[in-house]
Amino acid sequence: MTDAAPLAIETRGLDLWYGDFQALYGVDVRVRAGIITSLIGPSGCGKTTLLRCFNRINERYPNVRTGGVIRVLGEDIYDPSVSLIELRKAVGMVFQRPNPLPISVYENVVFGLRVHTPRGELKRAALDEAVEKALTEVGLWKDLKDRLHDRATTLQLEQQQKLCIARLLPLKPDIILMDEPCSALDVEGTRAIEELMFELRGRYTIVIVTHNMAQARRASDECVFLLLGKLIEHSRTADLFLSPKEARTAEYIEGRYG
Ligand SMILES: Nc1ncnc2c1ncn2[C@@H]1O[C@H](COP(=O)(O)OP(=O)(O)O)[C@@H](O)[C@H]1O
Ligand SMILES: [Mg+2]
Repeated sequence: MTDAAPLAIETRGLDLWYGDFQALYGVDVRVRAGIITSLIGPSGCGKTTLLRCFNRINERYPNVRTGGVIRVLGEDIYDPSVSLIELRKAVGMVFQRPNPLPISVYENVVFGLRVHTPRGELKRAALDEAVEKALTEVGLWKDLKDRLHDRATTLQLEQQQKLCIARLLPLKPDIILMDEPCSALDVEGTRAIEELMFELRGRYTIVIVTHNMAQARRASDECVFLLLGKLIEHSRTADLFLSPKEARTAEYIEGRYG
């Protein structure tokens, strides 16, 4: 990965406040396209907050204020010309607990397409194709092709989480944000999601929040270490774990705090 690789996300001087509480301080981060980047650091350091800046979903909280610049795919996402809907199609998000809608597997996958396409323009064949394509991409097609009309909430948790990734894909995202996507899963489920991340890598830029050092080490190309709302170090994963540049990074990965 050279420094010339295109950037998927770039922030400059990113500050964020929840009311009077400042949660991010002058974060400059450059996320390269097509790789897996982990956000790591102790609980409360701002990982989720930073992740949620990248598709402006933080704004769902009433008292959030941000300062600085956030560019996604080269565009300033606070520019008035940017459509929030288009931004959130391009930058999909997966949460800690799988949260499929309590409707069928099929309808979960096409939900976004239905929301974003004018009525009547979606033909059954196109929807069927989108479902097969998305479920194939996340490795669920074989298991679920005969269960497409089962309620998604009856699936195993691992399948539910894969479905939550699958339902982003018909919208053709460039970036997939994952906030501790394995925290509700067992070891097998965790491994399955990590394998899926590797499958998706290259076609999508993946940013994952994890408090699990072993996961960051196994599953990411680069790691961003945050502490008390500040970016302390951003390195290739092997470098961060083997020869961290910052003493505070070394202390964290040695388990001295967090
Ligand atoms: N909606 C909110 N309102 C007020 N404070 C918040 C809110 N969300 C998070 N915080 C605070 O911001 C800091 C960073 O939180 P968060 O980004 O969730 O950390 P992490 O994901 O690293 O555990 C914490 O001190 C947390 O208490
Ligand atoms: Mg968090």
